[in-house]
Amino acid sequence: MSAILPLYPLENPMPKASADAPIGIFDSGIGGLSVAQEIANYLPNERILYYADTAHVPYGARDDQNIRELTAHAIEWLYRQGCKIAVVACNTASAFSLDYLREHYGENFPIVGLVPALKPAVLQTKSKVVAVLATPATFRGKLIKDVVQRFAEPSGVDVITVTCLELVPFVEAGLQNSEQCKKALKKVLDPVIAQHADYLVLGCTHYPFLKEAIQQIYADQLTLVDSGFAVARQTARILIKNGLLSEIPLQHEIQLMCNVSGHNAHTLQPVLKYLIPEKISWSIHDVI
Ligand code: DGL
Repeated sequence: MSAILPLYPLENPMPKASADAPIGIFDSGIGGLSVAQEIANYLPNERILYYADTAHVPYGARDDQNIRELTAHAIEWLYRQGCKIAVVACNTASAFSLDYLREHYGENFPIVGLVPALKPAVLQTKSKVVAVLATPATFRGKLIKDVVQRFAEPSGVDVITVTCLELVPFVEAGLQNSEQCKKALKKVLDPVIAQHADYLVLGCTHYPFLKEAIQQIYADQLTLVDSGFAVARQTARILIKNGLLSEIPLQHEIQLMCNVSGHNAHTLQPVLKYLIPEKISWSIHDVI
């Protein structure tokens, strides 16, 4: 791994955030909203500040250093907004950035990351073949290699890794149920079925938004798993450990403020309307 210079020396640290500060969530784009929703449902007293780096999405084909730098910028933005914790709701960004970020911010700003949910798939597969669909960058990272070694190899489960760079742009454009998207899914998943995989790990936070399309094509041939709920539980654990869990009810309203770096809040408005359930109140803004 090449060295990274601290982009923002912590000479001027933020005051320690209190429990009523928002949870910061970051993704390259709007995919991390699949995680934000799990957190909102699990922790309904929390305010959520979401940052989507839509000026640079997709991250999947970028190089390691570039992903690390873009992630550092995004997390620093959430830190300077006064968030109490940051959730890197992106497998690609997590793959290259978690150690660096944790070292950089230390105890002052806890960082939660994610890795494809291979463990539940390995524990439940009957065919002993599971597939992981993620970006090429995620498969280059150490986190996925670690979970394959820890969970799949000792259980004798074969892991098929597949990538498809077309999928993230379909979700960003609100085209996740389109015929073109289903065609792309078939191209990447038909070979997985031919190799007898019965579980598909959605190793990118954009992919839970493809569940409907995948289920329409493969019905019950593939059981789908993702990391969203586990990340929500982990976020709660870390907030409790740090005395940062909000106890003030938000008048029955989960609040999600989505900020985008690509000056495309206006274009994304109708896409988000479709992706975010009605019970969550949200707004979307361009970051200037
Ligand atoms: N949501 C990101 C992930 O979980 C998408 C990657 C991308 O931007 O290509 O990996």
